[in-house]
Amino acid sequence: MIPIELYIAHRQQFALQMKKGVAIIPTAAERLRNRDSHYPYRFDSYFYYLTGFCEPEAVLVIVADIDRSSYRHILFCRDKDETREIWDGFRYGPEAAKETFGFDETYPISKLDEMLPDLLANQPTLYFSLGQDAGWDVRVTNWINRVREQVRNGVAAPNEVQDSHVLLDEMRLFKSTEELQVMRSAAEISTEAHRRAMQLTRPGMREYEVEAELLHAFRQHGAQAPAYTSIVAGGANACVLHYIENSAELKAGDLLLIDAGCELNGYASDITRTFPINGKFKAAQKDIYQLVLAAQEAAIAAVKPGNSWDDPHQAALHVLVQGFIDFGLCQGSVDAVIESADYKRFYMHRTGHWLGLDVHDAGDYKQNGEWRLLQPGMTLTVEPGCYIRPADNVPQEFWNIGVRIEDDVAVTPTGHEVLTAAAPKSVMEIEELMQ
Ligand code: GLY
Ligand code: MN
Ligand code: MN
Repeated sequence: MIPIELYIAHRQQFALQMKKGVAIIPTAAERLRNRDSHYPYRFDSYFYYLTGFCEPEAVLVIVADIDRSSYRHILFCRDKDETREIWDGFRYGPEAAKETFGFDETYPISKLDEMLPDLLANQPTLYFSLGQDAGWDVRVTNWINRVREQVRNGVAAPNEVQDSHVLLDEMRLFKSTEELQVMRSAAEISTEAHRRAMQLTRPGMREYEVEAELLHAFRQHGAQAPAYTSIVAGGANACVLHYIENSAELKAGDLLLIDAGCELNGYASDITRTFPINGKFKAAQKDIYQLVLAAQEAAIAAVKPGNSWDDPHQAALHVLVQGFIDFGLCQGSVDAVIESADYKRFYMHRTGHWLGLDVHDAGDYKQNGEWRLLQPGMTLTVEPGCYIRPADNVPQEFWNIGVRIEDDVAVTPTGHEVLTAAAPKSVMEIEELMQ
């Protein structure tokens, strides 16, 4: 678990950057699935990053005034309610939330509309992320209008709205030691799930049976949920990048691509492994697999401080394109194939994304129009692939082969740490494990 002091430190760091103004950060709403059944609840990542508080119906308000070195960290949350707790379980209530989560003040969420206009009065800047939720946009606008109504009493409304996510995205990009430790644990559970899937997969099973094994491993080891819908794609289904139907029968002689990772205490892991359903790669499958693996290794080697975000992608791309030419999938020189983007018939996505509280995590990829440089504390995925759909000018032995290999990597002061290294990925490791 992340100690509460870390969330307090996040709030302080954010408040210092706000300088003077009020930030309003609501958590996510509960969503109805049908009638009175809800989707599983997941808090808002920004709110969680600043609070560690997991309950719905909560709003963080920070009032910062750097001139006076004064900061008020205020939580609005649900009241204690014995009746609701009998039905839905424990809730902190303002008093215990204040104590447990280290807020300066806490109030019942029912006080929000009453108190916010006063909190916004005479503040120069509102930090709020417009456009995330229409309901919150309207509510915040109403609070501002209530302040404006007092103009003749000498009260001023904020004259500037800044997107709170801009500051928070940059903070979230750099993981602390504690966050990295949670991400290591999430990665460990997911690697265990992939090992389990490799060991239990047999021809004749359905994709969803393998998905069930992944979910089993996630929950057995304490992960709260998958970080995203698992992709369990046998044979040609692996060429559908976001295949989530997971219903087809697994056939001997086909590959199985699994892209699955758990969420642990808010943090995502994201692993892809591709392996033969009957435990033994065929020659053409092995060719493509080893090409993607070589591309992934080249990309991982390029993850180090000072390299740019684009360097791992370029490293993977050059290896892949050379392979596409060698296997007769593309014609011409590496540079010409990259220039014409002909490789996109087989590799149509980029090589990774930031990883953290969200599977596609917060943080800019470019700064001032340039790919940003990698720095210690950043965490990203490295996930090249190759997807070969049947086509006239494509050698038939490669048809319907889809391979992706994805690891989670942290940038360290001297290079990188692969958080998901324990998931087998060499041909030999996979074939041995599946025997
Ligand atoms: N599993 C989502 C992704 O790999 O980006
Ligand atoms: Mn990914
Ligand atoms: Mn993935």
